[in-house]
Amino acid sequence: MKFLSVKSVIIRNSVRNIIMESKFIINGEKPLSGSIKVKGAKNAALKVFPLALMTDEPIEVVNVPDIEDCHRAQEMLAALGHSVKKLGIDKMQIQRQNRTCLNLSAELVNKFRASIMFVGPLLATCGEVYFPHPGGCVIGAGTRPIDMFLDGFDKMGAKLEVLENKYRLTAKKLKGANIFFPKITVTGTESLMTTACLAQGETILENCAMEPEISALAGLLNRMGAKIEGAGTPTIKIAGVKKLNGGEYQIIPDRIETGTFAILAAASNSGAIVIEDCEPKHLGSLWALFDKIGVNYELDKSSVKILPTDKILATDVTTHEYPGFATDLQSPFTVLMTQAEGVSLIHETIYDRRLLFADLLTQMGANIIMADPHRVVVNGPAKLYGRKLISPDLRAGMALVIAALIAKGKTEIGNIYQIERGYEKLAERLKNIGADIEKI
Ligand code: EPU
Repeated sequence: MKFLSVKSVIIRNSVRNIIMESKFIINGEKPLSGSIKVKGAKNAALKVFPLALMTDEPIEVVNVPDIEDCHRAQEMLAALGHSVKKLGIDKMQIQRQNRTCLNLSAELVNKFRASIMFVGPLLATCGEVYFPHPGGCVIGAGTRPIDMFLDGFDKMGAKLEVLENKYRLTAKKLKGANIFFPKITVTGTESLMTTACLAQGETILENCAMEPEISALAGLLNRMGAKIEGAGTPTIKIAGVKKLNGGEYQIIPDRIETGTFAILAAASNSGAIVIEDCEPKHLGSLWALFDKIGVNYELDKSSVKILPTDKILATDVTTHEYPGFATDLQSPFTVLMTQAEGVSLIHETIYDRRLLFADLLTQMGANIIMADPHRVVVNGPAKLYGRKLISPDLRAGMALVIAALIAKGKTEIGNIYQIERGYEKLAERLKNIGADIEKI
């Protein structure tokens, strides 16, 4: 059993500085084959940890990915007076001890956007919370906005003050409200759905995101005593309850990791790769694209096999909210299109800066024309060559890893802290399928 103490937080921070200096060295064009296991979903795990603020009882979480963003969330819980015990390789127990503060640490909040999930639970249980603007990947215009969260808390009766470098929200008692999201927001839906569980009366959320992580979160909240209906559809109804109990939660497999490995296998096109411990049904839009471009694949209940194919065809793709094609798979798919025959148009609709990484692929030899920040035209196939690169963010960094694995020669990727925010023991797992990758 392992406790996360303040001392371990300090050690982790200094370890993190070293990690930020780490690099991947990849020698490309090695044939890849074998099997690779998918870990628990980052974007599901990050939404579950803050629920520990809403109950006196322990919460046990299984299939927790050992990634940097989850470490930051655990440090946040420790800083807010919770014990975080490791019960096994990927199992954790979290329990409230003493609520020590209502301030979300700027250092931690700056590191991951999902830190905003801690705001609602603190507001609902303590009536007050201070927090800076959340960080995370720099993929949206300026700092990624939180207006829909703040509007939602306002409708639930909270008062907002903007202080120097931080927000303060106060509410004696949150009340149920009718909230229509002007734009579909994943974490916004999760945050207001969670907070509404402890509000007085009924909350109706409309134009909600429908990602599988939202239904999974609602499932856990209902097992803890909440009354949520409609999660996974555009309208969610929440009847507020007085208290929540503890609960146990099995984190769903990471659909973005599954899709990323499938795209890697298709781009490498060198041997059969089986992706295990996944939920193929969460990736319907990717399989539809694979049908169109000629990727050879077989789906099973919890695995996917990608087999070599004669030729991959170019296609246009537009990112969309779930169940459409995920923006988090756009950068790996762009790499795949550099190997496809023909011209493809990649249209990124969710974020303003997520396609800028394509310039790095051009440096590797890809033939890509940027039409505007939301659209690039890829002419394929193109031979890629190893280069010295810096990972701009999590998903673009992973796309560079894929590009390096299929490129001729050696690639050095710096700033891999960004990649390790979301992929556990990546080098080790890729080595097991034949990749020549070292972390130094
Ligand atoms: N937006 C606003 N105002 C808000 C909230 C969002 O304008 O108050 C905008 C965003 O700027 C964006 C759009 O709405 O243009 C959608 O953003 P959303 O809120 O859905 O994104 P998120 O919840 O912050 C989650 C994932 C992202 C993933 C998106 C879209 C987590 C922790 N993050 O972000 O994952 O790209 O949904 O599916 O769940 C990643 O894992 O690499 C990642 C960035």
